[in-house]
Amino acid sequence: MKSSPLITCLCLFAYAHHASALYAKQDVLQVLEWVREKSNPNLIPINGEPLNVDLSLELSTIREVDTTRGEVEIIAMSMIRWTDPSLSWSHLLQDKEQLVDNVSIDTKYLWTPDIVAYNAVNAPELLSTPLALVSHDGEILYVPNERIRFRCNLEHFETEEGSNCTLKYGSWTYNGGILNLTNKNNQYSTWSYEEDPRFEILGIHAERNVKYYPCCPEPYPDVNFILNIRKKTNQGGMFSWKK
Ligand SMILES: *[C@@H]1O[C@H](CO)[C@@H](O)[C@H](O)[C@H]1NC(C)=O
Ligand SMILES: *[C@@H]1O[C@H](CO)[C@@H](O)[C@H](O)[C@H]1NC(C)=O
Ligand SMILES: *[C@@H]1O[C@H](CO)[C@@H](O)[C@H](O)[C@H]1NC(C)=O
Repeated sequence: MKSSPLITCLCLFAYAHHASALYAKQDVLQVLEWVREKSNPNLIPINGEPLNVDLSLELSTIREVDTTRGEVEIIAMSMIRWTDPSLSWSHLLQDKEQLVDNVSIDTKYLWTPDIVAYNAVNAPELLSTPLALVSHDGEILYVPNERIRFRCNLEHFETEEGSNCTLKYGSWTYNGGILNLTNKNNQYSTWSYEEDPRFEILGIHAERNVKYYPCCPEPYPDVNFILNIRKKTNQGGMFSWKK
């Protein structure tokens, strides 16, 4: 990410002037110890009801569109949110003037949802640090920034309507009766998307599906992000597509 000297300067300014709003080191330490002690990285935090895990996507770059192999490579942040009420520390620091609102903690101390892109062609490459934010009420936000390469039918990539590339996510081991994957408000965003002279995004949308199989009564939810992309023409917006 780019950070201009001006922004850095403003941040330092803000830091200096709101130093009194920072948490005491001792409080943060107490919270970190509490979270590490309470959490079990191997145990899904369910308690009689399915665990809601919300997923949204923030696309930042399309790296490559390989029409020969039918593969697209992107860089995107997945915003994954769930709640483990047993990690809540609201009661711990009650006598403090300012409660520590959230702490940043290594994901190795936490259970994290096994959400995978089903149509990825290789393991996503993690470009960010494996840190998650745990809030005082037990809500956890994990935002891995990843390079993801996935399969897509690119037959129409060089046509006016473009190709629809679906990135399909779901839990690898849990059905919806245990891990309820959601996409609240059909979220996706592109605020950090960088324009590319090679590709054009015509549209992007998210949808959640629930499937049932003849074998079993359990629901199987998945969340899809559909990217409508086409090759950019170098003719200033005029189309010259051959059919
Ligand atoms: C974490 O806490 C800070 C205040 O210390 C707050 O500004 C920020 O919005 C919180 N983040 C989340 C994800 O709750
Ligand atoms: C892609 O999706 C859009 C919107 O759903 C649809 O209008 C269009 O026909 C689709 N294009 C192809 C090639 O399937
Ligand atoms: C999963 O979450 C959705 C959206 O919040 C909700 O409508 C649905 O009832 C939940 N499913 C289960 C099995 O809890």
